[in-house]
Amino acid sequence: MTQQRRLALVTGGTGGIGTAVCQRLAKEGYRVVAVHHPSEEAQAAEWRAARAAEGLEIDTLGADLASFEDGQRLVAEVERRHGPVEVLVNGAGITRDKTFRKMEHADWEAVIRLNLGSVFNATRPVWEGMLERGFGRVINISSVNGQRGQFGQTNYASAKAGMHGFSMALAQEGAAKGVTVNTVSPGYVETAMTLAMREDVRASIVAGIPMRRMGTPAEIAAVVAFFAADENGYITGANLPVNGGLFMH
Ligand code: CAA
Repeated sequence: MTQQRRLALVTGGTGGIGTAVCQRLAKEGYRVVAVHHPSEEAQAAEWRAARAAEGLEIDTLGADLASFEDGQRLVAEVERRHGPVEVLVNGAGITRDKTFRKMEHADWEAVIRLNLGSVFNATRPVWEGMLERGFGRVINISSVNGQRGQFGQTNYASAKAGMHGFSMALAQEGAAKGVTVNTVSPGYVETAMTLAMREDVRASIVAGIPMRRMGTPAEIAAVVAFFAADENGYITGANLPVNGGLFMH
């Protein structure tokens, strides 16, 4: 860290992985803003109180990041309250798992518009400022299932694979300006998202993980913090798997 405490914006910030990312960055001295869906205002207030009880002062804001207008509104409000965003963690994501023959167009749209669309909608409004200031970190939370595909996840795997295509392309635009863009690809992590899977399906997936366990949100957050760090300015366009050995390439 430099003398100034950097500002980090975390989309999906009150979710399973997002919470651990916010905790980790706040403990490292970043000023952190967590973004949640506008329908989760009450939960966000509880979440803020829980962080305060841990000694972490973290602001929260509601935004529907499937919408570009909301992304712009969000970033303008963050900048008004706290100043420019220096670290952006794109962690907002949902699942609508179904075999393709049962998948409705709405299941496809919802996942692509949030999981991939939010990457544009949150990054575009912060991008020019990062280039102008000569510093920025964009960290996209993808998934092992964007790297290897997954039965029942054509929508999710497409969005997650797309996130890394975005990282590699944008990394080239930021490289000469001190702005890095990287992807973290978690495997199966202990969160509400993986708990929502049928128990037998989950058990058979865990049995196939070489480490024989799911990851913890803190294990993902540690890698996000690594990419965010000022000293890690020579890594860009990378995709770091954190998956217990589930997929190696
Ligand atoms: N491979 C091959 N065939 C499979 C299969 C698999 N993994 N799973 C089920 N099948 C077969 C069944 O044997 C059955 O075959 P028959 O029709 O020949 O009997 C058929 O598929 C069942 O098809 P259905 O459409 O009825 O499937 P379903 O409704 O029972 O289950 C599903 C579909 C809900 C998508 C379920 O497969 C599932 O939950 N899959 C796991 C999806 C997953 O991993 N999600 C991750 C969520 S967490 C996350 O996404 C975070 C992250 O980044 C990792």
